Parts: sequence; structure tokens; C-alpha cells
Amino acid sequence: CGIVGIVGNSKAADILVKGLEKLEYRGYDSAGIFVADSSTDHLVKSQGRIKDLKGKIDSSVQGKIGIGHTRWATHGEPSEQNAHPHTSENGRFVLVHNGVIENYDELKKIFLESDHFYGETDTEIAVHLVEYFSKQGLDTKEAFKQAVAEIRGSYAFGLIDKEDRTVIYVAKNKSPLLIGLGEGFNVVCSDAMAMLEQTNQFVEINDGEIVIVTKDSVQIEDQTGTIIERSPYEAKIDLSDMEKGTYPYYMLKEIDEQPATMRRIISEYTDETGAVAVDQELLTSLLASDRIYIIACGTSYHAGLASKQIIEQLSQIPVEAHLSSEFGYNMPLLSQKPFFIFLSQSGETADSRQVLVKTSEMGYPSLTITNVAGSTLSREATYTMLLHAGPEIAVASTKAYTAQIAVLTVLAKAVGEAKDVLSAKSFDLPMELGIAANAMDVMINEKELISQLAIDYLSTTRNAFYIGRSEDYYVSMEAALKLKEISYIQAEGFAAGELKHGTIALVEDGTPVIGIITEAVTAPHTRGNLREVESRGAHTLVIVSEELSKEGDQIILPVVHQFLRPLVSVIPGQLIAYFATLERGYDVDKPRNLAKSVTVE
Ligand code: G6P
Repeated sequence: CGIVGIVGNSKAADILVKGLEKLEYRGYDSAGIFVADSSTDHLVKSQGRIKDLKGKIDSSVQGKIGIGHTRWATHGEPSEQNAHPHTSENGRFVLVHNGVIENYDELKKIFLESDHFYGETDTEIAVHLVEYFSKQGLDTKEAFKQAVAEIRGSYAFGLIDKEDRTVIYVAKNKSPLLIGLGEGFNVVCSDAMAMLEQTNQFVEINDGEIVIVTKDSVQIEDQTGTIIERSPYEAKIDLSDMEKGTYPYYMLKEIDEQPATMRRIISEYTDETGAVAVDQELLTSLLASDRIYIIACGTSYHAGLASKQIIEQLSQIPVEAHLSSEFGYNMPLLSQKPFFIFLSQSGETADSRQVLVKTSEMGYPSLTITNVAGSTLSREATYTMLLHAGPEIAVASTKAYTAQIAVLTVLAKAVGEAKDVLSAKSFDLPMELGIAANAMDVMINEKELISQLAIDYLSTTRNAFYIGRSEDYYVSMEAALKLKEISYIQAEGFAAGELKHGTIALVEDGTPVIGIITEAVTAPHTRGNLREVESRGAHTLVIVSEELSKEGDQIILPVVHQFLRPLVSVIPGQLIAYFATLERGYDVDKPRNLAKSVTVE
């Protein structure tokens, strides 16, 4: 979910809606705004996208203060009723919430006698609690504080009291929230991107703090009531990076931006002599570690898997890649000196954050590799490295995946060089990454071919397989995830050799099986596996490195350094998913049921 708020601006409704559009990547199953001026107020909610909400907002919906919300349903189905903002029973308090209130059942029993609930969401308890404490005689700030103190779980709240239409009350725990400083007004948002048109000056809020925002002041208090002074920072995001330009979808733009991102990573992580340069303290910490644990979700997890071998070979440190949601509650026996790397495009994923909190409590050093400077995971880890990929808007991640692999390679090269590892010393990263960027360009220019193949193989199928071995297996997992996320084809990325041990039973006449082949030693085996499925009726397609290609292979990858192959071999998979989705008539950028940044566990 994403929240916005504004106080002191007569264009409040317009700014809130624009902000929500920028936050739509965080969820888009329902949305709503509340705006008010001194005498009138309006609450507009809608199921569906922000454009549906917009359709319900007429010119009478005006005000100087307001809050808004775009939802990714956790508790309660997506519906207008369950959309935020929520109002207290007496109608006095209006609230938006991002997160999950874990003890809402318990709170309901303790504090609320009658059934005040209109919808099914956990959020409603929060606004009813504020009313409850206000009825006990507390002023609004104290009532809000008291309510927040009772709540367990993750939250970012924005609250307006209709009896004082000059203040937005804000609090957060685990869910992201920023205050933006405008001229004569102030804003609240889950992500700076939402309010960049209004300001580039933002103030960070920490867990447990309560903030009182008026048009010309931002007062931050900790739990004990002590006032905290905090300077704003400047958000360095270029607004034009967030525009689609002439592209039909963000995903296509972001696929196309990958070579430029590689070139940016080279320039960001090399010094004037062209040598790879990373933070010295980070390097020292890694050199002292005996094992790297990569923790991530979704596409970022796949980037971790695809980088494991590269990091091990360059740095000579063993690497394990884990799913955040599993690792936190099912921790393996750790090595003596573990080092944790959190891979997260958004830097906000709650599953990853819960692991970071635990490993930090255990005293272990950590690095967050993220696309978002100032994000929660980057602030809370010991070190940060940025992806420099520019804002990624499409829900299906593309450029962040390749940027994560590239940045991990930079890091591994720096560690290996410092350790005098031969494979690192002889690996000319800036040159090889430059060659890989050119190879990515070559693949990106194959859109016509790839689009035709996507139509031929995937326009009507119910399921599909990607198969490969070693890194080609990991890339297969990512290519299959892309297909699942946006085209809704039930796709699986499978270890080519393992297919015959059970899953091959799913192969029928016409089942698409796409083989990825970039490694000489395993190439004959994967080709053998493709023959096995062909003889059972599969419709096979080969994505292969030029030097291993044979007549009849459909997609040929330019040759790149062995460490950098995943950067190039994933691109056909991204494009196949894109074109299959277009062909099947779905929304590429906003697939059903998903959100780009998931801030609940
Ligand atoms: C969500 C997105 C995925 C993403 C995952 C991890 O589920 O839909 O595309 O890979 O979160 O996100 P992160 O921001 O931590 O990389």
C-alpha cells in the first residue's frame, strides 16, 4: 500500500491523486482520498485503479488538507468499503494506513464494545482506537499516541481530526514514511517519488516516532515525548526518469535501459584510474568474513542465486542465497563470521527487513544493495551500495535484476583483488561489463524476432518451462517468474537435468519448453534434455551463446565473459514475457494481485 498527505495547499485533491498515481506500484486494487477545508470535506473511495478513483472526483472535491491511499489488500477483499481512508464511528477522525495490524482482534475485544466495523480491514481498529481514547478525554495528539502504543504490527499512519483541519498526525513502525517540505505547505508520503513535483526536501521518520505536520511546521516526537530535531535531505531523483516518454509500457523502457545502467555502474564504481572502487570499511568487513549470506525475495533472490558463483570465484568466499521469508524463521547454522547482503530493489521489503533486524541484533555486519537511496533497508544496514538503475516503475523487475548482478560482481572483484585472488586480478571488469552492455544492446535490438517467437510459442498455452543448468538454471527461474507475473502463464524455471525425475510428466503435445544454454560443459546435457521433451511432444525453443549455437537454434546470445553471462541471457526471457503479455492482452506494468514493493510480511 502507499499513503500520501498534504496540509496547506489549495490544490490538495489534485496533488494527492497525482501522488497516488506515483505510488500505484505499491498496490492498485482500491484507492481513496479525503480532502477538507475549514467548512467542507469530501471522502472519495473506489475499487480498482487510481484512474477509477479519478473518475469519481469532480470539481467540487477541493480542500487544503487531505490524505490518500492506494491499497494492496491484506485483510479484506479489494472493495470500495475496504478502501482507505477509514473514518471513526462519530465521523470525527479519518485515517490511512500502510501495513498490517497484528493484534486487531485482541484490541477489538478489549476496547470496543459494539461492532463499529463497517469493512473487514485491520486498519479500522486504528481509527476507532483514536476515537476511543479521545472520548476518554485525551486531546487528539495524545489519543493518537495512545492508540499507536496499543498497536502491534507494521504501520505508517496519516490521521486527520475534522475538528482541527490544520494538522496531519503521522506515525510509523516498519512501514516507510517521509515528510516532504513544500513552500507554504507540507506533505506526507510512503516514497519520495510521490511528491517530487512538490518538493525535493524530505525528512526521514524513524520507527516509534509521532509527527505533527502543519502547513509550516514538522514536529517529531519520540515515544517519551522528547522533541527530535532532524534536518531534511535532498532527494536526488530526476523527475524525467519517472516518465514513460514514448514507450507504451514502463517495462519495455526499463528493459531498454539496462545497457545504460551497466555503463553507469562502471562509472559509479571505478576511480579516475579506471580501477574498481568500493567503500574501504565495507571491504575490510567483508575480508574479515568467512561466508556471505545473500537475503532477498522475488527477482532480487534470483539475482542473488545468479551471482553466487561469480562472487565465489572472484572473492573466494563461500556464498549462500536465501529467501528472506524463510531465512528469518528457519535460520541455518551460521558460519563463524557471517556477512549479510540484502538485495532489494525498493529497499523496503518487509520480509527482508525482518531478517536484517534479527541479524543486526545478533551483531553481524550487513550491506544493503538497493535502487533507492535512503530506503529503510539502506538506512538500517551497516553499509549501502546503490544500483544506479534509475526509478523502476513496472511491477515486474528487469533493470534492477541485472544491476544487482553487476553491483555484486563489482563488490566481488574488489574483495578478490584485495585478497590477491588470481581470477579477480585477471578480470578486467570495466572492460568486460562494457562488452556485456553492448551484448545486451544486441539482444534488445532483437525485439522483432523475440516478439514473433513469443506469439508462436506462448499466445495460447496454459503452461511453459524454462530449463537450464548452473547459472542457466537460475536465469531460467527468473525468466519463468517474469512470464508468471505478467502473462499469467503457469511457468516453471527448472534444472534441466532434474526435469526427467518427475516434472516431465507435465509435458504434453505442444508444451513450450525453452532451453537456456551458455555453458560449454553442460550444453550437451541440456540439449539432451530438450530432445527428451521433444520426443514427448514439447515445442522447444533454444536461447544459446553464439559459440555453442547450432543450426535451427532460435535466439543467439553474443559472447561475453563467463561471469557476466546472466546479464545477457535473461534479456530474451524478459522480452518474451513482455511480448507474450501484449499478445494475451494484459496490463504489462500492473499485473493482477501484485505490488512492486511489499511492506508486509
Ligand atoms: C515484490 C515484487 C517483486 C520483487 C519483490 C522483492 O514481490 O512484486 O517484483 O522482486 O517484491 O522486492 P525488492 O524491492 O525487495 O527487490
